[in-house]
Amino acid sequence: MPDDRLPELLSAARAARSRAYAPYSGYQVGAAILSAAGGVHAGCNVENAAYPVGTCAEAGALAAMVAAGDRRIAAVLIVADGPALVAPCGACRQRLREFASDDAPVHLADASGVRRTVSVGELLPLAFGPDTLAGREHAG
Ligand code: THU
Repeated sequence: MPDDRLPELLSAARAARSRAYAPYSGYQVGAAILSAAGGVHAGCNVENAAYPVGTCAEAGALAAMVAAGDRRIAAVLIVADGPALVAPCGACRQRLREFASDDAPVHLADASGVRRTVSVGELLPLAFGPDTLAGREHAG
């Protein structure tokens, strides 16, 4: 990923985080995805009184990317604030993997900026992905 897009990703994720709806956990998260086409798509977590119905920031950013017509992730940035650095939940690792290569960078940020960068493959090794199903005959 071109590093010159990082500040843009960080500010998009921060802006989305500032609008997070997290009255139950109090933990606000913002995510921004840079698509291979060059678009920036952001999302925030949206909680719900029925707790399991809440959605993660990454899921929102992914939905925005797909709705905009983009299908490939070039880079992801996630921002939150707390004693431990944010990292995507297991379900979101799988969601991101659907549209990303193993080497796509995932930048983890807090109030001071990007603190760590990992890859999608590091977050979800030996993934079950679209390639696992490629070439299969559909049974029905
Ligand atoms: N959350 C995210 O939005 N993304 C993450 O990477 C970790 C967790 C949200 C879900 C929930 O609204 C809150 O953070 C606390 O788990």
